[in-house]
Amino acid sequence: MSAVATKTLLEVRGLEVEYGRVRAVDGVDLDIASGEILGLAGESGCGKSTVANAIMQILRPPAHIVGGSIRFEGEDLTGKSNEELRRFRWRNVSMVFQSAMNALNPVMRVGDQFVDMMQAHERISKHRAIVRAGELLELVGMDKQRVRSYPHELSGGMRQRVIIAMALALSPELIILDEPTTALDVVVQREILQEVEALKHDFGFAVLFITHDLSLLLEFADRIAIMYAGEIVETGPAATLAESPLHPYTQGLLQSFPPLTGPRVKLNGIAGAPPDLREPPAGCRFHPRCPYCAPENAALYLRQTTERPRLREITAGHFVACHLVDA
Ligand SMILES: Nc1ncnc2c1ncn2[C@@H]1O[C@H](COP(=O)(O)OP(=O)(O)O)[C@@H](O)[C@H]1O
Ligand code: SF4
Ligand SMILES: [Mg+2]
Repeated sequence: MSAVATKTLLEVRGLEVEYGRVRAVDGVDLDIASGEILGLAGESGCGKSTVANAIMQILRPPAHIVGGSIRFEGEDLTGKSNEELRRFRWRNVSMVFQSAMNALNPVMRVGDQFVDMMQAHERISKHRAIVRAGELLELVGMDKQRVRSYPHELSGGMRQRVIIAMALALSPELIILDEPTTALDVVVQREILQEVEALKHDFGFAVLFITHDLSLLLEFADRIAIMYAGEIVETGPAATLAESPLHPYTQGLLQSFPPLTGPRVKLNGIAGAPPDLREPPAGCRFHPRCPYCAPENAALYLRQTTERPRLREITAGHFVACHLVDA
């Protein structure tokens, strides 16, 4: 990010979310500046969608926020009424879901789905909303005549573009994309992300982009946060994480994905699986899988297995939660 003063749009502090007695998000801090692309990465089950749903305030029982704050433009969302939240969604923050491919109503023309969503939020005539829908479809690289199409008449990539166009419709300041392209092939994924990036330049919205594919983020994000077992373990500028990842989990993730460009390298990945959050490991939650955790190094081992590492700023804007980096 440039040195130009940017406004903090979203400020998450100490967020804790539980599903019944399972704590899926345990003390997450997250900042997004206006116009910025923040990437959130981590293996499946580490709490990424739970964070996104908490920001959108769409958690449903048994999920509930048990601690922390979520401020959007300075206002705490956790204290808002349902009516205030209804206005906030789509208008201030919109979200493209993990299951976006199924998010369209199969028996309604694309244009009518825009009309419904827009009329739920603002006074706009049907005609005006259809015209606007056509303009938005053109913005995401589709023919405006597609307002007349039914979802089944569109390819997966086109349906994804429709969803993104809908997310843009009320010009929100923040768009959350939760693994929006997993079901699409790599080429289409990149095309769509390039589209989002170009739109961002025109509209100026910020993006929270969630994926398990770190290589995509290295290309598109300004900053990246790495999540493991309900915690952020490393965060910093994308270039810093690409060049000098410090957390062993980040290092493992980077080795799990082939680089998009350059020579093919052997992929080591990370052995094992994330912990069951009903009983997360004591100390550092990554220690059972960490290649740097060995009983021979008694003093460090004791810390790794008993003391929870906290995020610490290593260089400007680069935070890591790891005892090895501490020492
Ligand atoms: N509906 C649910 N009921 C109970 N626990 C859940 C539910 N959804 C998620 N969880 C718990 O929350 C954790 C994080 O889930 P999620 O936020 O979906 O992770 P991610 O998006 O990173 O794959 C899961 O590992 C699971 O323990
Ligand atoms: S604290 Fe220790 S076990 Fe945890 S990630 Fe760092 S080196 Fe590995
Ligand atoms: Mg998810």
